[in-house]
Amino acid sequence: MVRILLILFFILSSSGVIRCARDDGDNDLGFMTSLDPKLLNLKEEKLSHFRLYWHDITSGNNATSISVVRPSNLSATGFGIINVIDDPLTLGPKLSSKLVGRAQGFYTLSSQEEVGLLMSMNFAFTEGKYNGSTITVLGRNTVFHKMREMPVIGGSGLFRFARGYVQARTHTFNMKTGDAIVDSCQNTKPELKMVRILLLLFFILSSFRVIRCARDDGDDDRDFLTSLDPKSLSLKEEKLSHFRLYWHDIMSGSNATSISVVRPSNVSTTGFGIINVIDDPLTLGPKLSSKLVGRAQGFYTLSSQEEFGLLMSMNFAFTEGKYNGSTITVLGRNPISHKVREMPVIGGSGFFRFARGYVQARTHTVNMNTGDAIVEYTCYVLHY
Ligand SMILES: *[C@@H]1O[C@H](CO)[C@@H](O)[C@H](O)[C@H]1NC(C)=O
Ligand SMILES: *[C@@H]1O[C@H](CO)[C@@H](O)[C@H](O)[C@H]1NC(C)=O
Ligand SMILES: *[C@@H]1O[C@H](CO)[C@@H](O)[C@H](O)[C@H]1NC(C)=O
Ligand SMILES: *[C@@H]1O[C@H](CO)[C@@H](O)[C@H](O)[C@H]1NC(C)=O
Ligand SMILES: *[C@@H]1O[C@H](CO)[C@@H](O)[C@H](O)[C@H]1NC(C)=O
Ligand SMILES: *[C@@H]1O[C@H](CO)[C@@H](O)[C@H](O)[C@H]1NC(C)=O
Repeated sequence: MVRILLILFFILSSSGVIRCARDDGDNDLGFMTSLDPKLLNLKEEKLSHFRLYWHDITSGNNATSISVVRPSNLSATGFGIINVIDDPLTLGPKLSSKLVGRAQGFYTLSSQEEVGLLMSMNFAFTEGKYNGSTITVLGRNTVFHKMREMPVIGGSGLFRFARGYVQARTHTFNMKTGDAIVDSCQNTKPELKMVRILLLLFFILSSFRVIRCARDDGDDDRDFLTSLDPKSLSLKEEKLSHFRLYWHDIMSGSNATSISVVRPSNVSTTGFGIINVIDDPLTLGPKLSSKLVGRAQGFYTLSSQEEFGLLMSMNFAFTEGKYNGSTITVLGRNPISHKVREMPVIGGSGFFRFARGYVQARTHTVNMNTGDAIVEYTCYVLHY
């Protein structure tokens, strides 16, 4: 039996200016430095709201959503299927209406009782001042429910430090051939035809601070959440830490740290649909032989049909000094041919509990023959 302790913070929208202490810090390793958060030019938090239509096209020549993993014995709910998506986001429900970005990432059918998706995607905006900025959504989407709510867990560019939620409502659902999710016979694969699903009403609520936890009076046994005084976690002032690491993605040779675990049979020129699992060394210098301070563990999915655009989902697991055992979690969009790619830091553990921030990735070296890459990661992390 596993007991799970859940610590839930109520995060309110704070309109205050962020205060963060300077770290006078004992930096035993010297790779992390403290910065004055004012350097990030963080001002007031803003609440933005917008509505988009998300088009998941699984059929035809121009499919934007392809199944890359399909268990041999598919259940009626499609449990186990993984689709990689590069779905258009438009202002109106018609595919021909104004395109403002793309939803890139994947979803996994992860419910055995209904069609329930875990969605992990970046909304990469391409219009106006939002061009190049992203928001990252990770949540549960039970597609036959009228309304599904998923958290916005981070953002980049204009949406740095974003938090919030999206509400998804299906607009149209094409159940051609009446087969939504019926496992008919062995060779006919059930096809989930979400020709035009739905969409999204957004509330982006960025908020920096844990505001308040009410004391809980009611104590019935179903209530497994209890309120704690945040002081019990000894959360003090938020700090801004800055560090630079080199990330080594080694795909070749006997010591590869990045392996393709999913490869669609028809790989396009942008590799759409490929998934690599990584355990990449993080070093202080660009050379692999320089000081190792941790590893980047997780995976990336090639989720763009127009360029090499990755959804990256990884933990930086530190192994040095006081950071040993601590992690930060990065989940974001990485169009690798761009000079600078910004991805949100969406969480952390140990030393980096409650972390938020962003990393900027710049390619240092890439070997065109092997695909091996060394990428500089500059990290800005707010944590306690
Ligand atoms: C695919 O896209 C091309 C160019 O945008 C278009 O001409 C064609 O009709 C589309 N095919 C389908 C099946 O939608
Ligand atoms: C796959 O499905 C068939 C028929 O339903 C069943 O006989 C078989 O045991 C299943 N195999 C696995 C590995 O679940
Ligand atoms: C968005 O930015 C890209 C690259 O920075 C540029 O090529 C493109 O033209 C821009 N699109 C719009 C609509 O501004
Ligand atoms: C793999 O690692 C081993 C041990 O670290 C080393 O001896 C060997 O040269 C490496 N091989 C390659 C191809 O880098
Ligand atoms: C795979 O590619 C071939 C050649 O480009 C094409 O004829 C075939 O229809 C493709 N198959 C799928 C499933 O897309
Ligand atoms: C980091 O922690 C692990 C487990 O706690 C320990 O085995 C290892 O020696 C530590 N490494 C360093 C460099 O302190």
